[in-house]
Amino acid sequence: MNNGLFVTFEGIDYSGKSVQAKLLYEACRGKNRCLLLRDPGATEISEKIRTILLDKTNSEMSPWTELLLYEAARSQLVSEKILPEMALGGIVICDRFYDSTTAYQGYARGLDLAAVERANILGSCGLMPGITFLLDVEPKRALMRKKVSDCDDRLEAEGMGFQNKVRQGYLDIARKEAERIVVIDGHGRVDSIHKNICRIMNERFYNEITKV
Ligand code: TMP
Repeated sequence: MNNGLFVTFEGIDYSGKSVQAKLLYEACRGKNRCLLLRDPGATEISEKIRTILLDKTNSEMSPWTELLLYEAARSQLVSEKILPEMALGGIVICDRFYDSTTAYQGYARGLDLAAVERANILGSCGLMPGITFLLDVEPKRALMRKKVSDCDDRLEAEGMGFQNKVRQGYLDIARKEAERIVVIDGHGRVDSIHKNICRIMNERFYNEITKV
């Protein structure tokens, strides 16, 4: 049993989700037990797997290997970091989780969605987010946020068509899971998006968290 709260942020590359995850973490942490994590990553083993996944020289990686590596990184993250923190009643904020796998490996790579769903259950050890914020941004506008110094990783190098498929995938997932997934227009100002997210958190979880 756990009493914690698990919050995830999703979106295409450069959607602004990492900035929003960090802002929510900063708003929460003074008043609540709180942890900010990223998937893939956030444990020693998961960060090593992340390096393999994002390494552009691994161009021969098969889509199924890619899927299973994301799941492997996630299962380590869940068992080493997320579940222990939730058992202590903490708020766990995670930058990406299994919806990323459905959108990227399922919708964009074209792997069988039912197989991806089964893999997601294994990789997440059956854990589901209490709420997910999907930062929805047009891929063209997202790309404008990229700095000249930012090098593409293996997934980003897939280009605009791939990001479009990821975006449509996310919107489809959100339609199917409208209770859990809140779609946020990610084109707005960072501070007004943040205020909106805090408002939704306070409305939904008024008896689980101290106000953020
Ligand atoms: P990040 O840059 O947002 O940390 O994510 C790393 C990349 O990995 C990003 O391009 C999205 C991709 N990704 C997947 O393809 N599948 C997954 O399950 C996850 C978690 C991320």
